[in-house]
This record gives sequence, C-alpha cells and structure tokens, in this order.
Amino acid sequence: QPLEAADDEVSLQGFDHYMLKEIYEQPEALRNAMRGRLDEENATAVFGGLNLTPQQLRSVERIILTGCGTSWHSALVGEYLIEELARIPVSVEYASELRYRNPPIENNTLVFGITQSGETADTLAALRETKRKGHRTLAICNVVGSSIAQAADGGVYLHAGPEIGVASTKAYTSQCCILTMLALYFGRLRHLSYEGGQRIIQELYGIPGAVQEALNCNERVKEVANKYQDATNVLYLGRQYNFPTALEGALKLKEISYIHAEGYPAAEMKHGPIALVDTKTPSVFIVPQGSTYDKVMANMEEVKARGGPIIAVATKEDPMVDAVADDVIRIPDVPSILQPIVSVVPLQLLSYHFALLRGCDVDKPRNLAKSVTVE
Ligand code: G6P
Repeated sequence: QPLEAADDEVSLQGFDHYMLKEIYEQPEALRNAMRGRLDEENATAVFGGLNLTPQQLRSVERIILTGCGTSWHSALVGEYLIEELARIPVSVEYASELRYRNPPIENNTLVFGITQSGETADTLAALRETKRKGHRTLAICNVVGSSIAQAADGGVYLHAGPEIGVASTKAYTSQCCILTMLALYFGRLRHLSYEGGQRIIQELYGIPGAVQEALNCNERVKEVANKYQDATNVLYLGRQYNFPTALEGALKLKEISYIHAEGYPAAEMKHGPIALVDTKTPSVFIVPQGSTYDKVMANMEEVKARGGPIIAVATKEDPMVDAVADDVIRIPDVPSILQPIVSVVPLQLLSYHFALLRGCDVDKPRNLAKSVTVE
C-alpha cells in the first residue's frame, strides 16, 4: 500500500472526504496536465518524456491502450480520440487479459499503459510482456517514479497530485486530457490541419472552466441522489464519446455505494438491459448536445415508454430533455471530443451522494484497494 503513507500528509482542506476534495480539484488538475504542453505556434502538443523521435512516432501504425478499472475507461476515450484526430487504429485491452492472451502485434505498434498509481500488477506485467517482444511502451501515469513509469520506455505524467480516495476521479479526467493532447500530437504529425490543431488547443484551454461550471451541479445532484437513494439497480447509458462515461458512472456507483449499476452504449440497451427497466430502476442518460443527441433521445423515449425513471445529464437550456426526463442535471456545452471530461463530473458527485446517504465509507470502500499490486 504505497499510498497509505500519503493519507496523513495530504490534508482534507475542509472537505469531508478525499473523494470530494479530489472531485473539486479537477479544474486545477487539468490545468496542471496541460501546463507547458500546448504549443500554439505549431498548433500541437509537446511532451518531454516520450523518448521517441518524431520520425519514430510518425511511423506508428497501431496503438494499444491498456489498463485496469477506471484507467481502462480512459483508454476507451483515448480510442475514440486517437482514431478521430490522428486516424491511427487503436485497440483497447484489459491489462489482465493482454498479459496472457498473446495476441499478434504488428511492427510499428506503440503500447501505452495507463495507470494512476503506476503500481497495478496486471498493467505492469502487460507492459513488460509487450516490451519484451520488442514493442515500444509508454506510460500515462500519475505517481512519479512508480514501477510502471520506470518499466516503460518513456511516458507522460498526469501531474494531478496525490489521489487518496480509492475511487479514481481527478486522475481519470487528467488521463482523458492527456489522451486528447496525445491525439492532437499524433494528428498533427499526420493529416490534422494547422487550423484544426489551433481549434483543439483553444477548446482545451476552456476545459478547466467548463469543469468548474459543471461542479455547480452539486446541490442538484444531491437532490437527485435523495430521490433515488433506495434504488438497487441503476443503468447508465451514453453513446460515442459518452459511452465510456456511462461505464465510468456505473463503476463509480458500484465502487462506493454498493448499488448494482451497468453502463451500456445507449442503443445496446434494447439487446438485453431494457428487460431490467421497471418503475424502480432509474436510467442515467448522458445526453449533451452533439451528433448523437437525437439518437440518445430516441433511446430515452424507449425507456420512458416502459415506465423507467430517467435522470438526464444534459447541456444547459434543453427543453426537449426537460420534456422527457424526470430529473435533469445540467452541464456546460463543450465540443464532443472533450465531453468525457465534463460529463463524468455529475456522475462522480452522484455516486458520492448516494454513498453518503447509504452510510458507506466513501474513501475506503469495502473489498477495494487504491492500488492492486497482486494479480
Ligand atoms: C484499483 C482502484 C481503481 C483503479 C484501478 C486501476 O482497482 O480501486 O480506482 O482504477 O485499480 O488503478 P491504476 O492505478 O492502475 O490506475
């Protein structure tokens, strides 16, 4: 438990729990993740520690993103980002599966291990195994000098500061931020235009402020948690960039409030999970404005027609959502590639308030460890 020692050193600064403090630290963590890494002149990102030449990075033909738990969810976000901005095929692998699966890996594949602690046994083993086979490995990691940071050929630190709460929050949004900047960087080595790169940089600058604004939903989220505190099952549904958000929202709820939750791509719901819908099973729809908005709204109507209560996370000023959902939580409007960083904030708070209402130990949930150093 290498992080135990830090418990005493990091003060709660007036917050009741580390998890809540870390949720509120996200605007600052995001600023730290971006500091010195956005190069406006060249419309790209810069990373000091990749230890690879632009030529080597230019020749990458496939990227594997691997990790566990919440870090695996940020890998899913990374898949969407890198494929869209850089047009490099990406595979996302559970580290525990990758290490034993022995998949064929093409030459010019770059492997990223994503990990808050840098100590997760499966992620370390997956990275060592792929490195042993001669592939280049990089770490996206929070803890400086950790085992995974040392094992990789190079990497990017989150600079999110110590994360004490077992449920990962600020590390997740920082990972998403780093992956956005990596996608920008790889994109700019290829076809992404100067203007396209500039636009993404400006949008990134707006993200800490947008997360700050999203935190204003806390009181509203508390009311929603109060209303649904007796739920025993909750569905989380989103599409495209908000599909990993649905998985992460469900994981947060399971981890700290011990309520059974499932995350799905919203349209997949009709292939099974919709059978769970009844008047006691709330569905959380992540439905900000964007290209899949109409489709998610249609999925919402399907749940509504079956009597399921609906909690919607929607962009400000959305009368269409107001008409269908029972409860709406507002978040600011940001471009779709950056939505994962903003739309997860109310879901982190929702799990926090559910856990408090149910008397759970928020920072040290039963059966879980902050870093899992055994298989
Ligand atoms: C544990 C933690 C999770 C975390 C996962 C991966 O299960 O409880 O919050 O997401 O490990 O940890 P890592 O440090 O590799 O990101």
